[in-house]
Amino acid sequence: MKIEVSTNQFSEQKTPLLFIPLFEEEPGPSFEELNKILEGLASKWLGKDAGKANQIINITPWTGVKADRLALIGLGKKSEFNAEKLRQAAGKAACHAAGLKEKEFSFLLPNILEQGEESIAATEGFILGSYRYDRFLTEKKPNVEAVSLLGGDKKSVETGRILAEATAFARDLVNQPPNSLTPETFAEIAEETAKELKLSCTVLGEVEMKELGMGGILGVAAGSSKAPKLIVLEYGKKAKAEKNEKPIVLVGKGITFDSGGLCLKPREGMEEMKDDMSGAAAVLGAMRAIAKLGLKRHVVGLIPTCENMPGGNAFRPSDILNISGKTVEIGNTDAEGRLILADALAYAKRFDPAVTIDLATLTGACVVALGSHATGMMGNDDELKSRIKKAGEETNERVWELPLWDEYTDQLKSDVADCKNIGGRWGGAITAAAFLAKFAEGPWVHLDIAGTAREDKGRPYTPKGGSGVGVRLLTKLVSDWK
Ligand code: BES
Ligand code: MN
Ligand code: ZN
Repeated sequence: MKIEVSTNQFSEQKTPLLFIPLFEEEPGPSFEELNKILEGLASKWLGKDAGKANQIINITPWTGVKADRLALIGLGKKSEFNAEKLRQAAGKAACHAAGLKEKEFSFLLPNILEQGEESIAATEGFILGSYRYDRFLTEKKPNVEAVSLLGGDKKSVETGRILAEATAFARDLVNQPPNSLTPETFAEIAEETAKELKLSCTVLGEVEMKELGMGGILGVAAGSSKAPKLIVLEYGKKAKAEKNEKPIVLVGKGITFDSGGLCLKPREGMEEMKDDMSGAAAVLGAMRAIAKLGLKRHVVGLIPTCENMPGGNAFRPSDILNISGKTVEIGNTDAEGRLILADALAYAKRFDPAVTIDLATLTGACVVALGSHATGMMGNDDELKSRIKKAGEETNERVWELPLWDEYTDQLKSDVADCKNIGGRWGGAITAAAFLAKFAEGPWVHLDIAGTAREDKGRPYTPKGGSGVGVRLLTKLVSDWK
């Protein structure tokens, strides 16, 4: 999508469709000016709901403006206005324009927040709101191709573009069907990204995994005909060399399909388990954004990826796996994510991380607890948790903390091994995190994105399907790091 900034007066803007912001209760200066130009026409169109967030009022002007059509776009109450309101309105605008089969439109910024902040949020909204996954459609639907942002700032538009395109990249990975996105093709995509953005990239296979004692991922992958991979990406070696900077290590669960293994999932909803690599997609997307923005940080991305399938070679309930020297009794083969993450967390230690953050569609229990409006957060470091919470609020990829007390760890006790991979019926999101904690070293936070990784209904800038959650959150975290 082409997005250009313009300094034109809105009345001078030649465009097929012009969006004008409108606040609830106090319409705002651009509205009053518009109403004057249109000789009072605009106010005639205002119902009592005018200005409500994301509400659109269409106007066909016959005088005063050079736009063919006008649309008043509601931003809610002025006192409650923030970047998220604008992101949503911009997303709605892009959908509305696409619905009208317009290939281009213009959008007037409200000019209430800082210019850069508004430009970033609007750009994110346009690109993410018009996102479609049409790779496998023989006939593609037309979409918006160009936007003029009145009152926008060019540099901030480019920042917004990087963030939104990296999020769209993650959505593409999540939406890609599992017969097309396999551990091998995932590794190829990571290698292409690394080549494009000059990251270093190494892909470990089964031989290296055996040498390293990675019994978790080897166990999970055993039932699949597809070989497991551990993708290792590194960015910012310069920051490392110059400042001897310890890296921020990002780990993402990359199960390309989770059938449950021998503890097979019910058939209803099983198709959703193609999303089980959303954590991995978030990490690769964030690495893209971090590199494209040229952030001056040392960041490592670790992506363990494999498939969880039943079969003659599959791992079984009651098997005991050895993960980096710890023995783990398998209580359920569907609790596979924590096993591959354990290997990756143990591998992270060699980078001597400043902090380690993992993202995973880890538990249905987290969805029961928080629904789809918050990512579950658990970890061992208050400072890191508060940084993530703040980044979550700023990007509206919100997180909510659950406790990680010792009693939850006790639920993982096994009679025959050092621990079990399941902790019983209750507190499932937390016992999963308690399992991971056994393998993490130093400041560490786990983000359970099982509820936030996919959108079921469609929201203003998040159509149905993979949401790309985590990309903007992690990038914000890294860019604000001090
Ligand atoms: N990938 C699933 C978790 C999941 C569930 C993600 C729903 C998104 C939506 C994970 O591997 C899993 O199967 N977890 C089990 C754990 C249980 C066996 C302890 C679960 O949540 O039921
Ligand atoms: Mn599972
Ligand atoms: Zn899973």
